[in-house]
Amino acid sequence: MAKVLITGGTRGIGRNLIEKFASNGFDVATCSRNENELNKLIKHVNQKYPSIEFVALQCDVSDKKQITDFANNILKNFGTPDILVNNAGIFLPGTLSTEADNVFEKQINTNLASAYHLTRILLPEMKKRLSGFVFNMCSTASITAYTGSASYCISKFALHGFSKLLREELKNYNIKVCSVMPGATLTSSWDGTSLSKERFIDPAELTDLMYSIYKNSNTMNVEELIVRPHKGDVNDTNYNE
Ligand SMILES: NC(=O)c1ccc[n+]([C@@H]2O[C@H](COP(=O)([O-])OP(=O)(O)OC[C@H]3O[C@@H](n4cnc5c(N)ncnc54)[C@H](OP(=O)(O)O)[C@@H]3O)[C@@H](O)[C@H]2O)c1
Repeated sequence: MAKVLITGGTRGIGRNLIEKFASNGFDVATCSRNENELNKLIKHVNQKYPSIEFVALQCDVSDKKQITDFANNILKNFGTPDILVNNAGIFLPGTLSTEADNVFEKQINTNLASAYHLTRILLPEMKKRLSGFVFNMCSTASITAYTGSASYCISKFALHGFSKLLREELKNYNIKVCSVMPGATLTSSWDGTSLSKERFIDPAELTDLMYSIYKNSNTMNVEELIVRPHKGDVNDTNYNE
């Protein structure tokens, strides 16, 4: 069966993607930092989808050594993924002039460098197959400058740039590349928000759409998937200073 690797799978969009692919019989690998959450996820997936291979490893994707070891471990013990989803990411609010000194590095390392290092290691094996799919979990913050999301926006604009570059490099290898750019999606990233859930994208709806894009891309490459909540962007005052 085809294999999918999704970073950051214990919550939110990554978790929904695991359910979507596992329920369709794909073998799945994932990672995150919290060991307890990983163990709970392993138990859940093994019980619900006993026929698939499921691998969930502890890895802080923002750490170059850890993401490198994870990538090599995947190639050796899980196999070359047919689908890679660079999903793990964090949102730390702030404005350029007032955010703490390490907020930039944290988000660049988690949201951008992780995808760069992981993809670079997997790519030579993926290219040999002349097929495959890479989703890069960008954001509407990859194309819109939101006040109060300074370094987050910078990291997501850069991830979209990485994705566009990858698309060009992989045109002749039949590996599709898609920048997924959702607006506010109801996950733990929004814990504590005062907004009603109607103002958000349902993560299951988003991941259904991603799965459909994967399944229906033979002669075409959906390069950019831009989706916003039905009523448009939210502007949560919790995120403004
Ligand atoms: N929710 C939104 O409104 C929204 C909108 C646009 C784009 N996005 C993007 O979509 C992606 C997923 O977001 P989400 O809302 O689903 O997030 P989430 O609910 O906070 O889940 C994030 C997942 O990534 C893992 N993760 C975070 N930092 C990590 C690290 N350094 N190393 C390994 N795993 C890490 C988390 O587990 P641990 O914390 O245990 O490591 C968790 O499994 C992100 O790239 C985000 O920027 C989200």
